[in-house]
Amino acid sequence: MRILVTGGAGFIGSNFIHFIIENRPTWQVVNFDSLTYAGNLANLEKVAKCKNYMFFRGDISEPADVKAIFSESFDYVVNFAAESHVDRSLYQPDVFVKTNVVGTQCLLNHALEGGVGRFLQVSTDEVYGSLGPEGLFQETDALFPNSPYAASKASADLICRAYFKTYGMPIIITRAGNNYGPHQFPEKLIPFFITKALRDEPLPVYGDGLNVRDWLYVRDHCAGIVRVLEAGRAGEVYNIGGENQMTNLEITTQLLEALGKSKHLVHFVKDRPGHDRRYALDCRKIENELGWQPEMEFRAGLKKTIEWYITNKKWWHDITSGEYLKFYELHYRDRK
Ligand SMILES: NC(=O)c1ccc[n+]([C@@H]2O[C@H](COP(=O)([O-])OP(=O)(O)OC[C@H]3O[C@@H](n4cnc5c(N)ncnc54)[C@H](O)[C@@H]3O)[C@@H](O)[C@H]2O)c1
Repeated sequence: MRILVTGGAGFIGSNFIHFIIENRPTWQVVNFDSLTYAGNLANLEKVAKCKNYMFFRGDISEPADVKAIFSESFDYVVNFAAESHVDRSLYQPDVFVKTNVVGTQCLLNHALEGGVGRFLQVSTDEVYGSLGPEGLFQETDALFPNSPYAASKASADLICRAYFKTYGMPIIITRAGNNYGPHQFPEKLIPFFITKALRDEPLPVYGDGLNVRDWLYVRDHCAGIVRVLEAGRAGEVYNIGGENQMTNLEITTQLLEALGKSKHLVHFVKDRPGHDRRYALDCRKIENELGWQPEMEFRAGLKKTIEWYITNKKWWHDITSGEYLKFYELHYRDRK
């Protein structure tokens, strides 16, 4: 099997490549990534010399780059490449549309020409919009995205659907909850707060801290993607959730307890505009059809994640001293 992984230098993509090298050792893996601020080849140091792994630098929204990669054929394409941070999408929505919408369409075009066995689009529960206190998102629900990030991902999902319906391309979409684990860029809630707490800096919690997310350990997500890739039905959507709904405040409290830090580090800040209240996924389809279930219990996953950030201080020191996180900090300051 030859698999093209786009965005493989980012958080989930790099965990996915490690997962494939360990669990599908006969597969040839090609990682195609433009290395934005979120892409980091240090995430792939352990596999860089493997004979069945190769890296190409390229942009999914640049037709020449994509055409070049599709000069070879692939059994599978998994598209992780994206601008992925909601907060940034409030300030730079154009970048999100270029990568997430135009980029996905560009990939689809060349994958269609090249003939691909399966194209898996990695999407998010954020496309469904926001839930009230009750209920779960089903795969058949209408899409009501609220942030530029969610709207760009929803647009990509719709283009994928159109390529399946119009051209009969074997496309599958997965929609996952909030991931956590090693290699996550420290602008996202869990690594942001771990790295701040380790420096005894205040943890800026949005609004009342009661927004709910469904937290999924990244390796469970990777296992779910492989299951869908190998056994899912073309043209279908599969939710992949951790079946673990928690408020941001609960996450923050557990994290401070696990680190032995004071709860006085919690610092409430002005809420994000358009901040969705609750996401929660109904995962019966992937469970019943494909036999996948999340395995990692949240406390154990959080412990592993914290240990990784403690052991890999250089990894995040290199990032947190860079310009990109400063951009982010600036916007946080604006809203305090
Ligand atoms: N992180 C989550 O909790 C989560 C949840 C559900 C779905 N997703 C989806 O999973 C995918 C991966 O998310 P992540 O958290 O690993 O993101 P990430 O930001 O950590 O990584 C994105 C990767 O894509 C690369 N990239 C960005 N623009 C590119 C372009 N134009 N061409 C080629 N490569 C490009 C970056 O260099 C980076 O390596 C995204 O599609 C995201 O929408 C993420």
